[in-house]
Amino acid sequence: MPPSETSPSVAVARLGEIEPGETKKFMLSVEGRETECFLVHYAGQYFAYINRCAHVPMTMDWIDNQFLTEDGRYILCATHGAAFEPNTGECIFGPPCGKFLVRVPLTIDGDRILAGQPIENEARD
Ligand code: FES
Repeated sequence: MPPSETSPSVAVARLGEIEPGETKKFMLSVEGRETECFLVHYAGQYFAYINRCAHVPMTMDWIDNQFLTEDGRYILCATHGAAFEPNTGECIFGPPCGKFLVRVPLTIDGDRILAGQPIENEARD
């Protein structure tokens, strides 16, 4: 059965619920396991990733739901300070430099933001 039939997209937020530069955590069933993810409102768009660093598989928020640097420019990992681009999930500084966070695909349906199934080994060329 295709993933879309076993794991339909789920609403994780409403448009306007998260201010620019803010984030929101949500749970998503990924391969049958409840997995913590987060949504980020950055540069006028929404992006979402599994809350798991590309270096060591640990959560990244340094305080609950605090993912961004003070200037809102990067997603920061609390453990070793790696910085990731909010719009691509690529690490541009720190131990996992060049690696990516696992992206959660989003779609907008009316005023709802829907999360689909993450793509663990998505090609990044
Ligand atoms: S666990 Fe995130 S940089 Fe090491």
